[in-house]
Formats: sequence, structure tokens, C-alpha cells
Amino acid sequence: MKKLLALVFCFVLVFALSGCASYRTYEQIAADGKLVVATNATFPPYEFIDDDGNYSGIDIEIIEAVGEYLGLEVEIQNIEFDAILTAVPSGKADVGIAGMTVDETRLKSVDFSDTYATGKQVIITSADSGIAGVDDLAGKKVGVQTGTTGDIYASDDEAIGSVEQYNSGIEAVLALSQGKIDAVIIDNEPAKAYIASYDSLIIIDEEYTYEEYAICIAKGNDTLTAKINEALSALKADGTLQAIIDKYISAD
Ligand code: ARG
Repeated sequence: MKKLLALVFCFVLVFALSGCASYRTYEQIAADGKLVVATNATFPPYEFIDDDGNYSGIDIEIIEAVGEYLGLEVEIQNIEFDAILTAVPSGKADVGIAGMTVDETRLKSVDFSDTYATGKQVIITSADSGIAGVDDLAGKKVGVQTGTTGDIYASDDEAIGSVEQYNSGIEAVLALSQGKIDAVIIDNEPAKAYIASYDSLIIIDEEYTYEEYAICIAKGNDTLTAKINEALSALKADGTLQAIIDKYISAD
């Protein structure tokens, strides 16, 4: 009886432990034929929902091209940005692509592919705010998208009066246009897209930080990471990657 109990206990333990690392390996994904991709489609031109209701943007096209290279269908899961960093390690999604910056803290919970694009954080403010750079944010109310690097930098900056978190960058920009906050810190390209419909808003011409975007993958899912990198370097070499970026971002 004791032996039986011990055996049952062992099974329970094994299930519990495997539950912790339940990501799918490349072999399992290949057998299924489908790559499950988490994103947060509020971030033009990287990922957004277009007028026809389809997922669109640089990241969407890149991951579609990666899928095609690997012979995999791509299934997009549109979730909150900060949820991507738990969906991927827990195996709810195989990878995450979301204009996500490679960052030391994130590297503790996920692995990253090679970099496929670069970005920078900028400040959006109203033309008449008098804010001309980071130093002018002292004591101000700054809006960010929850869990983004903009959120991390703003929260680390003790001079900033308060950091207001929003589910998306566009909600932060809306609050800014309504005078509820003084500025928004967000990635440069989405910033341009967000302010397009607001005449009163400007982007401060000061580089806050330089960042590298990469695809996140569950820690230790090494064959998948290698396959994604193989696809990325093939797409880099044949010009596909640059063509996708050029389609959405005009050189200026
Ligand atoms: N680059 C920033 C970060 O990694 C913002 C990314 C936000 N992405 C999105 N799809 N909403 O934190």
C-alpha cells in the first residue's frame, strides 16, 4: 500500500512539474503543422487590425514569412501586451511577436530570437505643453502602455510625477489629447501612427533609448529558437525582411 501511494505521489509530482514547463517543442509544433503566435495588435505599424478586420503589420508579415519558411500555418492570438510574457513560457502560445524589446528582466523568463528590427522610445506631448525633452518630465503625469519598456523607463525615473498605465498606447494618447496627462512615452513608429489623427500633438525630437525587437520563445525551447533564427536569417538574406519593413515604414 505504501509503495502504491509512493507511486501515485510520483505520478502527481511528474505531472505537476511537466505542467510548469508545458511549452511545445519544435518537433511537436511541426507535427501539428501550426505555430501559435501571441501578439498585441494595438501597435501600428508592427501589429494592428486593419480596416477589413485582419491582423496586419510588420510583425504579422514577418511571422507569416517565418511560418511559410518552416512549413507551418500561423495562428495569431491577440492578447494584452504584458500577458505575452506569461503566455509564452506557459505554452499557451509558442512564440510572441509584438515589437518586443530585448531586455535584461525579460531574459530571465523568456529567450529571444535574433533581432529583426530596431526602435526607440520617444515622448509625445501637446504642442503647447512646454515639454522639450526628458528633463522637462519632472513632476509631470506620464502615460504608458502597461508592461512596456516605456512603462519601465518612466517608472524608474524618479523625477516623473506619476506614471499612468493604459492597456494600449492609443488609449494613453487619447488621455493626452484630453489633457488628463502631460506626455506619453512610447516607441517611435507607433507614436507617429497614434498622433496622425491629432493636430495638437507632437513627438519630441530626442532619442530616449535605442532598442532591439525580437521574437520571444519559452526559455530552453532551443530547437524552436534555432529554427526561428534560421528562418529569420534566410529572410534577411533574400531581402524579404527589409521589403516588409519598407512596406510600412518610409525612410526619413
Ligand atoms: N517595445 C516596447 C516593449 O517591448 C513596446 C512594445 C509594445 N508592443 C505592442 N504590441 N503593444 O516593451
